[in-house]
Amino acid sequence: MSRTTGTAGGTMGADRPEIEIRGLHKSFGDNHVLRGIDLDVARGEVVCVIGPSGSGKSTLLRCVNLLEEPSRGRVLVGGTELTDPDVDIDAARRRIGMVFQQFNLFPHVSVTGNLTLPQRRVLGRGKAEALAVARENLERVGLAGKADAYPAQLSGGQQQRVAIARALSMGPEVMLFDEPTSALDPELVGEVLSVMRVLAGEGMTMMVVTHEMSFAREVADRVVFMDGGVVVEQGPAEQVVTRPARERTRDFLNRVLDPAAVRAPGVQQDDDGRGREDGRPDAPAGG
Ligand SMILES: Nc1ncnc2c1ncn2[C@@H]1O[C@H](COP(=O)(O)OP(=O)(O)O)[C@@H](O)[C@H]1O
Ligand SMILES: [Mg+2]
Repeated sequence: MSRTTGTAGGTMGADRPEIEIRGLHKSFGDNHVLRGIDLDVARGEVVCVIGPSGSGKSTLLRCVNLLEEPSRGRVLVGGTELTDPDVDIDAARRRIGMVFQQFNLFPHVSVTGNLTLPQRRVLGRGKAEALAVARENLERVGLAGKADAYPAQLSGGQQQRVAIARALSMGPEVMLFDEPTSALDPELVGEVLSVMRVLAGEGMTMMVVTHEMSFAREVADRVVFMDGGVVVEQGPAEQVVTRPARERTRDFLNRVLDPAAVRAPGVQQDDDGRGREDGRPDAPAGG
Protein backbone atom coordinates (compact mmCIF):
# COMPACT_ATOMS: atom_id res chain seq x y z
CA MET A 1 0.00 0.00 0.00
CA SER A 2 1.49 3.32 -0.93
CA ARG A 3 0.46 5.28 2.06
CA THR A 4 0.98 8.98 2.20
CA THR A 5 1.63 9.02 5.87
CA GLY A 6 3.64 11.74 7.49
CA THR A 7 7.31 12.14 6.98
CA ALA A 8 9.51 9.60 8.64
CA GLY A 9 11.87 12.09 10.19
CA GLY A 10 11.71 13.88 13.44
CA THR A 11 11.18 11.05 15.86
CA MET A 12 13.81 10.64 18.44
CA GLY A 13 14.00 7.11 19.71
CA ALA A 14 12.25 4.59 17.51
CA ASP A 15 10.98 2.66 20.52
CA ARG A 16 9.15 5.58 21.97
CA PRO A 17 5.38 5.04 22.17
CA GLU A 18 3.38 6.77 19.47
CA ILE A 19 0.92 8.08 22.06
CA GLU A 20 1.95 8.87 25.64
CA ILE A 21 -0.63 10.01 28.16
CA ARG A 22 0.70 11.01 31.56
CA GLY A 23 -1.28 11.97 34.64
CA LEU A 24 -4.15 13.27 32.56
CA HIS A 25 -6.98 15.05 34.34
CA LYS A 26 -9.92 16.85 32.83
CA SER A 27 -12.67 18.73 34.63
CA PHE A 28 -15.68 20.51 33.24
CA GLY A 29 -16.50 22.99 35.97
CA ASP A 30 -16.68 20.88 39.11
CA ASN A 31 -17.28 17.70 37.14
CA HIS A 32 -13.95 15.89 37.46
CA VAL A 33 -14.23 13.62 34.43
CA LEU A 34 -10.72 12.24 33.90
CA ARG A 35 -8.99 11.44 37.16
CA GLY A 36 -5.42 10.58 36.31
CA ILE A 37 -4.98 8.56 33.14
CA ASP A 38 -1.62 7.03 32.24
CA LEU A 39 -1.59 5.21 28.96
CA ASP A 40 0.86 4.42 26.18
CA VAL A 41 0.06 3.24 22.69
CA ALA A 42 2.94 1.75 20.74
CA ARG A 43 3.45 2.39 17.07
CA GLY A 44 1.18 0.06 15.11
CA GLU A 45 -0.75 -0.96 18.19
CA VAL A 46 -4.55 -1.14 18.27
CA VAL A 47 -6.04 -0.23 21.63
CA CYS A 48 -9.77 -0.54 22.22
CA VAL A 49 -11.23 1.55 25.02
CA ILE A 50 -14.40 0.22 26.59
CA GLY A 51 -16.48 1.35 29.51
CA PRO A 52 -19.90 2.61 30.56
CA SER A 53 -21.51 5.70 29.15
CA GLY A 54 -20.20 8.79 30.91
CA SER A 55 -16.94 7.16 32.04
CA GLY A 56 -14.86 9.67 30.08
CA LYS A 57 -13.93 7.70 26.95
CA SER A 58 -14.77 10.47 24.48
CA THR A 59 -13.13 13.06 26.68
CA LEU A 60 -9.97 10.96 26.73
CA LEU A 61 -9.86 10.72 22.92
CA ARG A 62 -10.62 14.42 22.59
CA CYS A 63 -7.76 15.24 24.95
CA VAL A 64 -5.39 13.18 22.81
CA ASN A 65 -5.78 15.60 19.93
CA LEU A 66 -6.49 18.57 22.15
CA LEU A 67 -10.07 19.06 21.01
CA GLU A 68 -10.40 19.36 24.78
CA GLU A 69 -7.67 21.01 26.76
CA PRO A 70 -6.50 18.80 29.62
CA SER A 71 -6.76 20.34 33.09
CA ARG A 72 -3.56 18.63 34.14
CA GLY A 73 -1.06 16.15 32.73
CA ARG A 74 0.74 15.64 29.46
CA VAL A 75 -0.08 14.20 26.06
CA LEU A 76 2.61 13.35 23.53
CA VAL A 77 2.02 12.07 20.02
CA GLY A 78 4.95 10.94 17.92
CA GLY A 79 7.27 12.39 20.54
CA THR A 80 5.76 15.88 20.29
CA GLU A 81 4.16 17.20 23.43
CA LEU A 82 0.75 18.57 22.51
CA THR A 83 0.29 19.98 25.98
CA ASP A 84 3.42 22.11 25.62
CA PRO A 85 2.12 25.70 25.44
CA ASP A 86 4.67 26.50 22.73
CA VAL A 87 3.79 23.60 20.44
CA ASP A 88 2.56 24.21 16.91
CA ILE A 89 -0.77 22.60 17.65
CA ASP A 90 -2.03 22.67 14.07
CA ALA A 91 1.05 20.81 12.87
CA ALA A 92 0.81 18.34 15.73
CA ARG A 93 -2.87 17.68 15.07
CA ARG A 94 -2.20 16.82 11.45
CA ARG A 95 -0.62 13.60 12.63
CA ILE A 96 -3.92 12.55 14.19
CA GLY A 97 -7.03 11.48 12.31
CA MET A 98 -10.35 11.30 14.11
CA VAL A 99 -13.56 9.51 13.23
CA PHE A 100 -16.73 10.29 15.14
CA GLN A 101 -19.98 8.47 15.74
CA GLN A 102 -21.74 11.06 13.59
CA PHE A 103 -19.81 11.13 10.37
CA ASN A 104 -19.67 14.94 10.10
CA LEU A 105 -19.44 15.02 6.31
CA PHE A 106 -20.16 18.25 4.44
CA PRO A 107 -23.66 17.54 3.08
CA HIS A 108 -23.52 19.96 0.17
CA VAL A 109 -20.25 18.65 -1.26
CA SER A 110 -19.58 15.44 -3.18
CA VAL A 111 -17.64 12.57 -1.66
CA THR A 112 -14.56 13.67 -3.58
CA GLY A 113 -15.01 17.23 -2.33
CA ASN A 114 -15.26 15.99 1.23
CA LEU A 115 -11.87 14.35 0.79
CA THR A 116 -10.09 17.06 -1.19
CA LEU A 117 -11.22 20.24 0.58
CA PRO A 118 -9.48 19.56 3.91
CA GLN A 119 -6.31 18.50 2.12
CA ARG A 120 -6.28 21.73 0.14
CA ARG A 121 -7.22 24.02 3.01
CA VAL A 122 -5.24 22.47 5.81
CA LEU A 123 -2.30 20.89 4.00
CA GLY A 124 -2.16 23.29 1.06
CA ARG A 125 -2.10 20.48 -1.46
CA GLY A 126 -2.74 21.28 -5.10
CA LYS A 127 -5.88 20.07 -6.83
CA ALA A 128 -4.29 17.19 -8.71
CA GLU A 129 -2.47 15.81 -5.71
CA ALA A 130 -5.52 16.12 -3.46
CA LEU A 131 -7.60 14.30 -6.05
CA ALA A 132 -5.07 11.50 -6.41
CA VAL A 133 -4.90 11.02 -2.64
CA ALA A 134 -8.69 11.08 -2.43
CA ARG A 135 -9.00 8.39 -5.10
CA GLU A 136 -6.43 6.21 -3.43
CA ASN A 137 -8.23 6.39 -0.09
CA LEU A 138 -11.71 5.88 -1.53
CA GLU A 139 -10.34 2.72 -3.06
CA ARG A 140 -8.93 1.72 0.27
CA VAL A 141 -12.39 1.85 1.87
CA GLY A 142 -14.05 0.21 -1.12
CA LEU A 143 -15.90 3.28 -2.38
CA ALA A 144 -14.09 4.21 -5.57
CA GLY A 145 -17.43 4.04 -7.35
CA LYS A 146 -19.03 6.70 -5.13
CA ALA A 147 -16.61 9.55 -5.82
CA ASP A 148 -19.30 11.79 -7.31
CA ALA A 149 -22.12 10.89 -4.93
CA TYR A 150 -23.38 13.23 -2.22
CA PRO A 151 -23.47 12.06 1.39
CA ALA A 152 -27.27 11.87 1.50
CA GLN A 153 -27.17 9.35 -1.34
CA LEU A 154 -25.08 6.95 0.72
CA SER A 155 -25.95 4.54 3.51
CA GLY A 156 -24.68 5.25 6.99
CA GLY A 157 -22.01 2.59 6.59
CA GLN A 158 -20.83 4.15 3.35
CA GLN A 159 -20.82 7.62 4.91
CA GLN A 160 -18.69 6.39 7.76
CA ARG A 161 -16.28 4.79 5.30
CA VAL A 162 -16.06 8.13 3.51
CA ALA A 163 -15.30 9.78 6.84
CA ILE A 164 -12.50 7.26 7.40
CA ALA A 165 -11.15 7.91 3.90
CA ARG A 166 -11.28 11.64 4.57
CA ALA A 167 -9.23 11.22 7.73
CA LEU A 168 -6.75 8.95 5.94
CA SER A 169 -6.34 11.49 3.15
CA MET A 170 -4.64 13.80 5.62
CA GLY A 171 -1.89 11.21 6.07
CA PRO A 172 -2.24 10.67 9.81
CA GLU A 173 0.16 8.60 11.85
CA VAL A 174 -2.51 7.88 14.45
CA MET A 175 -6.23 7.27 14.08
CA LEU A 176 -8.76 7.86 16.86
CA PHE A 177 -12.23 6.32 16.52
CA ASP A 178 -15.04 7.34 18.85
CA GLU A 179 -17.80 4.73 18.64
CA PRO A 180 -17.60 4.67 14.85
CA THR A 181 -20.40 2.13 14.45
CA SER A 182 -22.81 3.21 17.18
CA ALA A 183 -25.00 5.30 14.89
CA LEU A 184 -25.31 2.55 12.28
CA ASP A 185 -28.04 0.06 11.61
CA PRO A 186 -26.76 -3.36 12.66
CA GLU A 187 -26.42 -4.68 9.13
CA LEU A 188 -24.04 -1.82 8.25
CA VAL A 189 -21.67 -2.26 11.16
CA GLY A 190 -19.62 -5.02 9.55
CA GLU A 191 -18.48 -3.03 6.52
CA VAL A 192 -17.05 -0.28 8.72
CA LEU A 193 -15.33 -2.75 11.04
CA SER A 194 -13.85 -4.49 7.99
CA VAL A 195 -12.22 -1.27 6.86
CA MET A 196 -10.85 -0.72 10.35
CA ARG A 197 -9.56 -4.28 10.46
CA VAL A 198 -7.65 -3.69 7.22
CA LEU A 199 -6.16 -0.48 8.59
CA ALA A 200 -5.06 -2.28 11.71
CA GLY A 201 -3.48 -4.98 9.55
CA GLU A 202 -1.55 -2.32 7.67
CA GLY A 203 0.04 -1.21 10.90
CA MET A 204 -1.92 1.93 11.67
CA THR A 205 -1.73 3.07 15.29
CA MET A 206 -5.32 3.14 16.50
CA MET A 207 -7.29 4.06 19.60
CA VAL A 208 -10.86 2.84 19.26
CA VAL A 209 -13.71 3.53 21.65
CA THR A 210 -16.22 0.80 20.91
CA HIS A 211 -18.87 -1.50 22.28
CA GLU A 212 -18.09 -4.10 19.61
CA MET A 213 -16.57 -6.77 21.80
CA SER A 214 -15.97 -9.25 19.01
CA PHE A 215 -14.03 -6.60 17.12
CA ALA A 216 -12.04 -5.80 20.24
CA ARG A 217 -11.23 -9.45 20.80
CA GLU A 218 -10.23 -10.03 17.24
CA VAL A 219 -8.40 -6.86 16.31
CA ALA A 220 -7.22 -5.08 19.43
CA ASP A 221 -3.78 -5.75 20.81
CA ARG A 222 -4.96 -4.36 24.10
CA VAL A 223 -8.29 -3.53 25.72
CA VAL A 224 -8.57 -0.75 28.26
CA PHE A 225 -11.61 -0.69 30.54
CA MET A 226 -12.46 2.75 31.92
CA ASP A 227 -14.95 3.61 34.63
CA GLY A 228 -15.38 6.82 36.56
CA GLY A 229 -12.56 8.58 34.75
CA VAL A 230 -9.84 6.05 35.55
CA VAL A 231 -8.41 2.98 33.84
CA VAL A 232 -9.80 0.14 35.94
CA GLU A 233 -8.18 -2.69 34.04
CA GLN A 234 -6.20 -3.26 30.86
CA GLY A 235 -4.48 -6.10 29.13
CA PRO A 236 -4.54 -8.34 26.08
CA ALA A 237 -7.97 -8.25 24.46
CA GLU A 238 -8.66 -11.92 24.96
CA GLN A 239 -7.89 -11.65 28.65
CA VAL A 240 -9.86 -8.51 29.46
CA VAL A 241 -12.92 -9.49 27.43
CA THR A 242 -13.16 -13.14 28.40
CA ARG A 243 -11.40 -13.32 31.78
CA PRO A 244 -11.65 -9.88 33.34
CA ALA A 245 -9.89 -9.58 36.67
CA ARG A 246 -12.05 -6.87 38.17
CA GLU A 247 -15.65 -7.08 39.17
CA ARG A 248 -16.53 -3.73 37.61
CA THR A 249 -15.23 -5.01 34.30
CA ARG A 250 -17.24 -8.22 34.61
CA ASP A 251 -20.44 -6.34 35.38
CA PHE A 252 -19.93 -4.06 32.41
CA LEU A 253 -19.17 -6.90 30.02
CA ASN A 254 -22.20 -8.85 31.17
CA ARG A 255 -24.39 -5.89 30.38
CA VAL A 256 -22.79 -5.21 27.01
CA LEU A 257 -22.62 -8.78 25.80
CA ASP A 258 -26.17 -9.52 26.83
CA PRO A 259 -28.11 -6.31 27.41
CA ALA A 260 -31.40 -8.16 27.72
CA ALA A 261 -30.32 -10.12 30.75
CA VAL A 262 -29.46 -8.24 33.87
CA ARG A 263 -27.50 -10.77 35.82
CA ALA A 264 -26.47 -10.79 39.38
CA PRO A 265 -22.85 -9.71 39.61
CA GLY A 266 -20.51 -12.65 39.51
CA VAL A 267 -22.79 -14.87 37.48
CA GLN A 268 -20.67 -14.76 34.44
CA GLN A 269 -20.60 -16.51 31.14
CA ASP A 270 -16.94 -16.47 30.73
CA ASP A 271 -16.09 -18.71 27.90
CA ASP A 272 -17.01 -19.14 24.38
CA GLY A 273 -17.11 -16.42 21.84
CA ARG A 274 -20.43 -14.98 22.43
CA GLY A 275 -19.35 -11.79 20.86
CA ARG A 276 -21.02 -11.21 17.62
CA GLU A 277 -20.61 -8.48 15.16
CA ASP A 278 -24.22 -8.05 14.24
CA GLY A 279 -25.89 -8.22 17.61
CA ARG A 280 -24.77 -4.69 18.17
CA PRO A 281 -25.00 -4.01 21.85
CA ASP A 282 -25.82 -0.40 22.25
CA ALA A 283 -24.38 1.84 24.86
CA PRO A 284 -25.26 0.02 28.04
CA ALA A 285 -26.57 2.95 29.99
CA GLY A 286 -28.59 4.14 27.06
CA GLY A 287 -26.32 6.92 26.13
N1 LIG B 1 -17.81 19.65 26.58
C1 LIG B 1 -18.28 19.23 27.77
N2 LIG B 1 -18.76 20.11 28.67
C2 LIG B 1 -19.21 19.69 29.87
N3 LIG B 1 -19.25 18.41 30.27
C3 LIG B 1 -18.79 17.48 29.40
C4 LIG B 1 -18.30 17.84 28.11
N4 LIG B 1 -17.92 16.70 27.49
C5 LIG B 1 -18.18 15.69 28.33
N5 LIG B 1 -18.70 16.15 29.48
C6 LIG B 1 -19.07 15.33 30.66
O1 LIG B 1 -18.00 14.44 30.92
C7 LIG B 1 -18.49 13.18 31.34
C8 LIG B 1 -17.90 12.10 30.49
O2 LIG B 1 -18.38 12.23 29.18
P1 LIG B 1 -17.78 11.42 27.96
O3 LIG B 1 -16.31 11.62 27.89
O4 LIG B 1 -18.57 11.83 26.77
O5 LIG B 1 -18.08 9.92 28.39
P2 LIG B 1 -18.22 8.62 27.47
O6 LIG B 1 -17.67 8.91 26.13
O7 LIG B 1 -17.47 7.56 28.20
O8 LIG B 1 -19.69 8.31 27.42
C9 LIG B 1 -20.01 13.27 31.30
O9 LIG B 1 -20.45 13.56 32.59
C10 LIG B 1 -20.26 14.44 30.37
O10 LIG B 1 -21.45 15.09 30.70
MG1 LIG C 1 -18.49 8.87 24.24
